[in-house]
Amino acid sequence: MLEKICFPHLGLQTIDKEHKEIIFFLHQLKGNDNPLKIVRTFVNYFQQHCDHEEELMRELNYPWANYIAHKAEHQKMRDFFALTMSHPEGTDDQKLQDAIEETRSSLIKHINEWDAKLAGWIGLI
Ligand SMILES: [Fe+2]
Ligand SMILES: [Fe+2]
Repeated sequence: MLEKICFPHLGLQTIDKEHKEIIFFLHQLKGNDNPLKIVRTFVNYFQQHCDHEEELMRELNYPWANYIAHKAEHQKMRDFFALTMSHPEGTDDQKLQDAIEETRSSLIKHINEWDAKLAGWIGLI
């Protein structure tokens, strides 16, 4: 049975679509016997998504301190993913499964805290 993919919706069409894709990549990693390609795609896609959000913040003149703090959070997450998901050895490996779960929860946390704050601010302008 297909597992339902849950993620927070912010009401920003493009950003929500990208979040859904990112969570979907993680979903695909579970039970996949050759996860390396997906990990690479995930890391690249996540990078593009961060660039996209940062571009949006600059375009909309998001308050500078918030922009810098949000950008720093993106960097922390990229470093974290690079560390935890750089050498997956197979889906039987408990380490990979743990990394996927940790990645998923840190992503959801980031969306709920940082991206929701951005979406709330956009809703006011
Ligand atoms: Fe995001
Ligand atoms: Fe973000």
